[in-house]
Amino acid sequence: YKRVTVKSLTDMKSNNDKISMITAYDYTMAQIVDHAEIDVILVGDSASNVMAGHETTLPITLDQMIYHASSVIRAVKRALVVVDLPFGSYQSDPKEALRSAIRIMKESGAHAVKLEGGKEIKDSIKRILKAGIPVMGHLGLTPQSIYKFGTYTVRAKEEYEAEKLKEDAKMLERIGCFAVVLEKVPAKLAKEVAQSISIPVIGIGAGGGVDGQVLVIHDMLGMNKEFSPRFLRRYADLHSEMTHALQQYKKDVKSQDFPNENEQY
Ligand code: KIV
Ligand code: NA
Repeated sequence: YKRVTVKSLTDMKSNNDKISMITAYDYTMAQIVDHAEIDVILVGDSASNVMAGHETTLPITLDQMIYHASSVIRAVKRALVVVDLPFGSYQSDPKEALRSAIRIMKESGAHAVKLEGGKEIKDSIKRILKAGIPVMGHLGLTPQSIYKFGTYTVRAKEEYEAEKLKEDAKMLERIGCFAVVLEKVPAKLAKEVAQSISIPVIGIGAGGGVDGQVLVIHDMLGMNKEFSPRFLRRYADLHSEMTHALQQYKKDVKSQDFPNENEQY
């Protein structure tokens, strides 16, 4: 395999070769994602929701993110692996942010980190970048600030919010981030942002005018039935497939069809 690097992503943007990014949180799933040659694997703090069953991304800890990230890293030979800095591990000051980023890089072997926010966390991002750690930004809907907004609805519909988002994206490019995620913002705005900066913009619910797309793997594989925002395309119905398999197994155990002659020693 030829490894995907932060440099390859910039080249992909220049060549209008769209970037594919998917989340993963464990070894087995990451191996499947990497074999499918997805370009970027995000060890997202969405693990708090899909792995741990929390309502929000706030409870997941740095230690838990490192556990998920190191499991993913052991499986990956090709993809670039980006890890979310969880809520509370970077907001208080740049030194804490750097310490958290260093822990992720050292203890998991990940290739880059992602932080939510714009100018509020500029100094923290700069501090991490100065240590040679690649940083991906994240603007628009930032789930770690859910209690500030109260809802998971589309962001930056108002002109002043759109202006701030554009400024934040330019700032992230200027200080040296290698890419930025735009979550749940109007497609027109996302396209404008992607055209205004040279680093790749990776969208989720941000339309097709950006440089790449990201989805949560459990959502795109149809593993959970409840979550169905407009932006989500389901590429499989694993919830049904898995349920059927489990029901069949139970039936076979009850009827003593399983195990058969060949399935024992
Ligand atoms: O945690 C996550 O899965 C994310 C993506 C939705 C971008 O941050
Ligand atoms: Na996240």
